[in-house]
Amino acid sequence: MLQRPRRNRKSEVIRQMVKETHLSASNLIFPLFIVDGINQKTEISSMPGIFRYSVDNLLREVESCMKLGLKSFDLFPRIDDSLKDKYATESYREGSLYLKAISEVKHYFPEACVVTDVAMDPYSSDGHDGIIENGVILNDETLEILGKMALAHAQAGADIIAPSDMMDGRIGYIRQVLDENGFTNVSLMSYCAKYASAFYGPFRDALGSAPKSGDKKTYQMDPSNQREALIEATLDEQEGADFLMVKPALPYLDVIKLLKDHSDLPIAAYNVSGEYSMIKAAVQNGWLDEQRAITEVLTSIRRAGATAILSYHSKEVLLNNWI
Ligand code: PBG
Repeated sequence: MLQRPRRNRKSEVIRQMVKETHLSASNLIFPLFIVDGINQKTEISSMPGIFRYSVDNLLREVESCMKLGLKSFDLFPRIDDSLKDKYATESYREGSLYLKAISEVKHYFPEACVVTDVAMDPYSSDGHDGIIENGVILNDETLEILGKMALAHAQAGADIIAPSDMMDGRIGYIRQVLDENGFTNVSLMSYCAKYASAFYGPFRDALGSAPKSGDKKTYQMDPSNQREALIEATLDEQEGADFLMVKPALPYLDVIKLLKDHSDLPIAAYNVSGEYSMIKAAVQNGWLDEQRAITEVLTSIRRAGATAILSYHSKEVLLNNWI
C-alpha cells in the first residue's frame, strides 16, 4: 500500500498538524434571555444551565463571558403578557426592557458585540412573527414594524441586527430605514434559511412566544427544501445582508455547505434550543459524554462552512476549556 491514511493519525502532534477545522471563542455568539425586574436569574426548565436574567444580572453574565474571551451576544426578551399586542408596539417603545438591555451592555462593555433579534413574536399577542388578519400573516404591513424595531435597536447601540422573521423583502426594507437614519455602519445578519422546525420548542418555552394559533409554515421554510435556500440567499445578498444564517444547524448542515459554496458572505448557523436540550437530556441520563458530544457538534457546524455559530454551549465550552 502506498497510501496509508492512518499515518497522519498516528500521534497527537500529527493529528493537530493536519486538523482542518478549528473552533475558537471568536466564532461563537452566545444567546442570552432577559426578563424585567431586579436580581432575577431563573433557569429555563427545558434548557438546563440556561437562565433568564434581569438587566443587572445580565451585565454580570456578560462580564464573566468577556473574561473568557466570549464577546458576542444575541439578546432575547421575555415580555409580560400584559405588554403584548397585535402590532408588537412594545418592541420599539422607548424605555422598554429590551432597548434598556442593549444600551446598558454597550455602555458598560463598549467592546462587546451586541446582536439583536428583530421579529414580532416575543411582543405579539398572537405569538406570530407578523401581523395576522383573519388567519393570514400580512407581509408588507409587518415590514413597517420591523423597520421601527430595527431603528430602535440601532439607536440603542446594536452592532448587528438579526431579522429572524422570514418576511419577504425585510433585509432591503430594514437596510433602507437604517441608512436613511444614518446607521450605515450597523450590520445585518439575515436569518436567511430559517426552517419551520420542531427544534425551537424550548426557546418558545423560555420566551412564552409560541404561536397562539396555527404554525409558522407560511413564512418559515419547509424542512424538505434545499434549493429554496438559494433563492433566499440571492435575495438577501441583493438586499444588503452582511451575514447569511442557517437555522437550525445540525439537521441542516447540507444547507450551510450549500450557502457557503454559493455565497462569498460569511455564513452563520444557529445551534438552536432543541439541539442544546437534546444533548443535555442525553448527558443527564448518562447516555453521552458531554464534552465530546458538544465539541463534535460545534466542530461539525464549522466544518460544514459556518463562520459564526450561535450556540447555548458557547460559555460552557470556554469555561471548561473544551476548546
Ligand atoms: C423568533 C425566533 C425563534 C428563535 C430565534 N428567534 C423561534 C421561532 O421562530 O419560533 C429560535 C431560537 C432557538 O430555538 O434557540 N423569531
